[in-house]
Amino acid sequence: MNRRDFLKYSFRGLIVATLGKGYFNSTGAQVELVRVPVRIKQLPAPLQGMKIGLLTDFHSSFIVSKDLIKAAADLVMSERPDIIVLTGDFISGSTKFLSGSIGEFKLQYLERCAIALSQLKAPMGIYGVLGNHDFWSGSASVKAICDTLSKRVGVTWLRNTNVELKKSGASFHLLGVDDYWESSCSLSAACEGINRDSIKILLSHNPDINDDISLSKERIDLVLSGHTHGGQVVVPFIGQPVIPSKFGQKYRQGLVRDEERQTYVSRGVGCLLAPVRLNCMPEATVLTLT
Ligand SMILES: [Fe+2]
Repeated sequence: MNRRDFLKYSFRGLIVATLGKGYFNSTGAQVELVRVPVRIKQLPAPLQGMKIGLLTDFHSSFIVSKDLIKAAADLVMSERPDIIVLTGDFISGSTKFLSGSIGEFKLQYLERCAIALSQLKAPMGIYGVLGNHDFWSGSASVKAICDTLSKRVGVTWLRNTNVELKKSGASFHLLGVDDYWESSCSLSAACEGINRDSIKILLSHNPDINDDISLSKERIDLVLSGHTHGGQVVVPFIGQPVIPSKFGQKYRQGLVRDEERQTYVSRGVGCLLAPVRLNCMPEATVLTLT
């Protein structure tokens, strides 16, 4: 073999190994448990140590298995969270550019997601918001997602509203908005009736809600999001080619601070377009308030 052939075959081997690794990352039911301490100013003593399990972006479809979603749910349950939050994209919605078997929403995938999440339990409850994909198959699908996951998993939906939660005499508000790209998304409705000084944790599928928070000057302590998939494909030396956010790479993944407010963006569980995650493992998150 001459030098040219050696380089050619080495390059091909590298591509095959990289794609193989990415495929395994997306389908091997291997999920990373990410523990995140989050410091919140003036957190009441009874809320210190409160654990929030965060799961997002399941994208239940023919390229995302029930086992993968269940593995993520098992990891969250192994940490015995006080509360569990689910921040959208339960399915991959039908869209104009995702036609045919890739983009078509089928009820069997919602059923798969419900079975995989059915063991979730938390003393303070399970709360959810909807992502862009949950809206993309139309209002009947939105209703099916909400009804099925309420009945089968016990999800309480926060659609532009909030709930006051109490722990050992201390309280905080959990807020939720519809997906940021939908006209129904309303931060002002979600904040209605809450004392400005109350601790506020906002569930928003898309972290770009930070733009509305900054413009409205609402005081939110913590935003919990998904949507960006951590880039899903992180190419060595190049980075993440596609991040669906007006802020570019800022909210790609992890804890991001905007003055007093913090946003945690999970890489999520499932995949979109192809069963590939490269250098970007599926994630199950447990945040501990301090
Ligand atoms: Fe997503």
